[in-house]
Amino acid sequence: MLQAIKANIIHAEKSGFVSRENAYLVMEDGVIQGVFDTLPAQYQNAALEDYGDAILTPAFADMHLHAPQYPMMGLGGDLQLIDWLNDYAFPTEAMFADTDFARRVYRQLAQELIKRGTTRVCMFSSLHTDATLILMEELEKAGVTGLVGKVNMDRNSGKSLQESTGESIRETLRWLDACGNFRLVKPILTPRFTPACTDELMAALGKLARERDLPVQSHLSENDNEIAWVKELHPDCAQYWQTYAKYGLWKQGTLMAHCVHSDARERAAMREAGVFMVHCPDSNVNIRSGIAPVRRALQEGVQVVMGTDIAGGVQLNMADALTMAIRMSKQRWIESQGQDDFLRFHEAFYLATTAGAAYFGVPSGFRAGERLHAQILTDALLCPTLQPLTLPERLERLICAADPHSLHAVYSDGVQRL
Ligand code: GUN
Ligand code: FE
Repeated sequence: MLQAIKANIIHAEKSGFVSRENAYLVMEDGVIQGVFDTLPAQYQNAALEDYGDAILTPAFADMHLHAPQYPMMGLGGDLQLIDWLNDYAFPTEAMFADTDFARRVYRQLAQELIKRGTTRVCMFSSLHTDATLILMEELEKAGVTGLVGKVNMDRNSGKSLQESTGESIRETLRWLDACGNFRLVKPILTPRFTPACTDELMAALGKLARERDLPVQSHLSENDNEIAWVKELHPDCAQYWQTYAKYGLWKQGTLMAHCVHSDARERAAMREAGVFMVHCPDSNVNIRSGIAPVRRALQEGVQVVMGTDIAGGVQLNMADALTMAIRMSKQRWIESQGQDDFLRFHEAFYLATTAGAAYFGVPSGFRAGERLHAQILTDALLCPTLQPLTLPERLERLICAADPHSLHAVYSDGVQRL
């Protein structure tokens, strides 16, 4: 089917916004044919959706969140990472042995993501294979695309949530065999973090990553006590990242959440290997991990994307997450008396949209041949301003004021989902 969408079209490049006012985006069967200032003759009979003065911009990519922590969002915020995991996260995740419960929670989560303009994700499930498959089904049904990982964890997580090394490997294989039919969601290997994975398990996952060419996601240098613990567990590794590198898990496209305490050397190791930093600012302040050196990492050429880290973070909306990223980097600017530069709006918006899409190999903007991932935002309900605003200013106001009524429509993988 041929469709044309008329709107003010804007996206962020690394260097700034690119916008086209009153433009036409033409799609055939969900695949973008082009963006035009006037509708070309050959598309005159396309079904036209005229969004008037509204803004069309890329949908969000939430590149790190824990689906089974959704029920505990907003809980446990008095604690720091290790206590928070033991007292809240692990017991909550243990509930996903119940597949009916999993179905109910994951259906709601998938729908709530679309309602917030998030169409791409990299997600942690729990260690349960069946619940992980249910999560993938529900995401696919709602139209959320991306990567999902059955979590591997064979030590240090209490009785209710542990798997043996053998079980962890067997269940990972069973899960991989069962997820071949999904179209929108694909598997990603997910060793939880070094303290929760024995050397034997890490080695098996590294081998699997290599043999089946699978991507990897995990956590890195989030919290001081966690880092000290990793040092005790791996006295041969000078730095945390080497505990992953030792087993072949530190490779092109590996996603490492947080990196709050990653120093220049660890960041250089990321850049050299093509490992991505997933910046999760709301989580980092909520469980008091610290302020990640995200602006510095960008300057050094590290690839950075952004996540909500539900439920270390308590904001499912990526508009809130990117606003928080700007705030936290301003805090770093204040504390360093201007030595550490702060994130500009276009940079944070880039990280939350274009950079996440780029992880999946999608070029910036709305290029012909790509399937449309976009959100339509309207500021018709906001208070009028004295002077006319530019498109980037209108977008900044919509995102940073985080008005929940501004999201008018969402397209994911070429299909309108909201
Ligand atoms: N490190 C290991 N597991 C987790 C988790 O569930 N959340 C966060 N924020 N950090 C982790
Ligand atoms: Fe996390």
